[in-house]
Amino acid sequence: MGALKGFQLSEQFFDRGYEVFDDLLPADHCAALARKLRAAMEKDCITVDNDGVHIKTRNGQVLIAELPEIEQLYREVHAHLAAGIAHLLMLDDLPVAISANYLRRDQGHSFRYHFDRNEYTAVLYLTDSPDLPLCIHPKIRTDPALGESAWQYEKDARVPVRIDPSPGRLVCFHARTSLHGVISNPDATSTTDRISLQFGFDTRRRSFDDQPYYGRATAAPASADAQKGRS
Ligand SMILES: [Fe+2]
Repeated sequence: MGALKGFQLSEQFFDRGYEVFDDLLPADHCAALARKLRAAMEKDCITVDNDGVHIKTRNGQVLIAELPEIEQLYREVHAHLAAGIAHLLMLDDLPVAISANYLRRDQGHSFRYHFDRNEYTAVLYLTDSPDLPLCIHPKIRTDPALGESAWQYEKDARVPVRIDPSPGRLVCFHARTSLHGVISNPDATSTTDRISLQFGFDTRRRSFDDQPYYGRATAAPASADAQKGRS
């Protein structure tokens, strides 16, 4: 039996483009994992400060060497999602498959709106951080992997879905069609750490090596590793 509580995507996931699950990991487990990740990332991480992306991040390749339990979590999240998404694959490209992000509002961290290169993303939050919510415009465009992308609505035409990080909360969304970012909440006053794990999945094997940076062909990545980070 794994660490993660079972969960199942509903039909709404496919209509709405995202779904949120709470209490998938006990609070003490989240706190312990957050402590380990904070220590690991204070010792060694990539600081990205480029093109509206200001985060500390560590990719899966480095992460699982030090914390193998994170690979196990990736497998568990995959198993639960695969029950609802046909042909869902774990990614061989570990930096795209798994990452940990560490943000603090008092350090000016944020992550501008972007699309991911992988088809589905699940974010598992380990801390409370209402000051740095995930904002999503679900299904704002069609999937560019299926042909020329068509926009379904303008970003400014709708209020984004706001998801506040809290320990044990997981959000899964269609990451190539849902514009998303970590947008600082001007009303919040907390300065807590925002520590999260990102897990990427796809339904077809593909190489991510020549994909544009955060969905933008014109932006130059800060580094090859930073290029593979996600929110
Ligand atoms: Fe992302």
